[in-house]
Amino acid sequence: MSTFDRGAKPDIGTFVAFDHIRFIVGNAKQAAYWYCANFGFEPFAYKGLETGSRVSAQHAVRQNKIIFVFESALLPDNNELAPHLSQHGDGVRDVVFEVEDLDSIIAHAKKAGAKIIKDITEESDESGRVRYATLQTYGDTLHTLLERKSYSGLFLPGFKAHPMPKTFFQGLPHVGLNFIDHCVGNQPDLEMTSAVEWYENVLKFHRFWSVDDSMIHTEYSALRSIVVTNFEETIKMPINEPASSNKKAISQIQEFVDYYGGSGVQHIALNTSDILKAIEALRARGCEFLTIPDAYYTNLRERLANSPIKVAENLDHLQKLHILVDFDENGYLLQIFSKPCQDRPTLFLEIIQRQNHQGFGAGNFKALFESIELEQEKRGNLFRKD
Ligand SMILES: [Fe+2]
Repeated sequence: MSTFDRGAKPDIGTFVAFDHIRFIVGNAKQAAYWYCANFGFEPFAYKGLETGSRVSAQHAVRQNKIIFVFESALLPDNNELAPHLSQHGDGVRDVVFEVEDLDSIIAHAKKAGAKIIKDITEESDESGRVRYATLQTYGDTLHTLLERKSYSGLFLPGFKAHPMPKTFFQGLPHVGLNFIDHCVGNQPDLEMTSAVEWYENVLKFHRFWSVDDSMIHTEYSALRSIVVTNFEETIKMPINEPASSNKKAISQIQEFVDYYGGSGVQHIALNTSDILKAIEALRARGCEFLTIPDAYYTNLRERLANSPIKVAENLDHLQKLHILVDFDENGYLLQIFSKPCQDRPTLFLEIIQRQNHQGFGAGNFKALFESIELEQEKRGNLFRKD
């Protein structure tokens, strides 16, 4: 495992934070409802036929600083949405970053050879204006870079308050997820480095953390991962690729790539300051999480007994909820992974709480992989069929 220095501040505009994540799905209205009911979001903003949007419907849901937007086509033969949906199933199309000084960032991106999907565009309404441009990153995934400091409206121009009443969702147990901690992109074999270099060259991100397959492996599968981040280290983008430790086995990263049809967003980690309360609430709402065997907690108790770290949370409670613990000599993190959010074994969500620890759960990857492999086996996807 390695960590890196961030170096000097790049001479282009600032990347502020994740702004929102836009998904292309088969039925945006139902997806928005599912994320609200299961994951504690509330209906936030809407764009559709009633607001003058003739081509697609967009349903934005929000939980504190986390905004997901679900988009579906309204008419047949939509050129952007239909091919994406057919190829990838429900999935993330655009990871949107808020930026300052968009012009300098786009000027540099062009010089660095980035594919510009949409050049700098301005949109406005009675609440002000936004400016944005959209770049292509790995696979069919996009990054829209958005300048919004001259906009005071609810979300973005063209969106109105979501018509779905919030009262039903507010009557469910309160979850308390606060912000997007990181957003992970899976790549096909041997494509991690080029995806990482895109962030270094085009956005002037730097490497933050990495692990290789000598550290992260089970009997069946392995992965390599490099995390890239902006200078302020407010946006973390881990990039994974599969590695195999067994020729007959299919790494969970490869399973993702097979079912997603190439590179794409594998998971989004959402930060909370009280994971016990959050997971109690999410389980009460019907969320399904990966199961962690009791042996993991026996081993964890032994390792913690030999460490200076004191985990403030009750270990029996963490075990009951299947929450994982990773730690070093300075701090720890608590994390848990949902089952896939759609029929394809592609996107899932992670819930994470950090206590002076900026890693990504490398100490848990083995337990996590073994748990995912149990699910892969149920799906008939753990071993090659030749
Ligand atoms: Fe993660």
